[in-house]
Amino acid sequence: MSSPATYFIHITDTHVKAPSGKPFLNLDTTAKLRAIFTAVRDLSIAPSFFVISGDLAHEGDIEDYRFLKTLIDEESAAFGVPIFVALGNHDHRAPFREGFLGEAPSEEPYYYTAMVGDARVIVLNSQIPGKVEGVIDETQLAWLRDQLITRAPGGTVLVLHHPPTPNTMPLLKDHGLTNPDALAEVIAGSDIVGVLSGHIHFNSIGVYAGTLSVALAGSAFNLDPTTPSSMKMFDSSGYSLCMIRDGKLIAQPMPMPGEHPMVLHWHVGASLHDIAEHPERIPEEIRS
Ligand SMILES: [Fe+2]
Ligand SMILES: [Fe+2]
Repeated sequence: MSSPATYFIHITDTHVKAPSGKPFLNLDTTAKLRAIFTAVRDLSIAPSFFVISGDLAHEGDIEDYRFLKTLIDEESAAFGVPIFVALGNHDHRAPFREGFLGEAPSEEPYYYTAMVGDARVIVLNSQIPGKVEGVIDETQLAWLRDQLITRAPGGTVLVLHHPPTPNTMPLLKDHGLTNPDALAEVIAGSDIVGVLSGHIHFNSIGVYAGTLSVALAGSAFNLDPTTPSSMKMFDSSGYSLCMIRDGKLIAQPMPMPGEHPMVLHWHVGASLHDIAEHPERIPEEIRS
């Protein structure tokens, strides 16, 4: 007989800005996030928790994180369930600590674990400050190894920003997690039912370390996953309805309705790696 299911919602890449800030891509990313919460409220399934897998704010400052915290607290209270967040490459640790967590500013990575019923959520911090690609550092790998000694009866969901799997977009081929084998070695044989990430702004689902890896399309905008040297950015949005049952994770991407027009076609060239040194090459619409 099947065990009862645990339902939860995965959201990623919200790229929120406080109303006083310059909107990323001229998109109302706050409205798009609110629309997702409204859509979830209309589902006939009630989630037990939410996870948001990074790029919470777009180059966030304290005001952005205070604003996001208010929004998250409102939605968490309305649903009566926790909302767990992870940091991405566009997040900044010190203002996040101060504005979102109400702690002293610090560059310490943000990682933690929480139980919801008999399911466990483990959030890692894969960002490398100032870099597009990600890593799980040795400290977090050791911490994770310790956590996984104890198994959660309902299974564990692992959340990080950078996908540990390859993807189809040549321009993003080396912008994921740079040490997927080290992480795979730690999680092999554990109770992890799935690894949830974002970052690439399109759905990319595959097998990783014997479990399910879901890099989810963003709530703020999305990309054509096939372009070799340009970024086609679309005004689309979505989330994933997830279910854990009998030690298995099912992830069901749920695109938000709309026409999804292309809002920017950026001819990047062969690589994104030198963009940090040449910000003048970044289109005005997405410059922070
Ligand atoms: Fe993002
Ligand atoms: Fe990202």
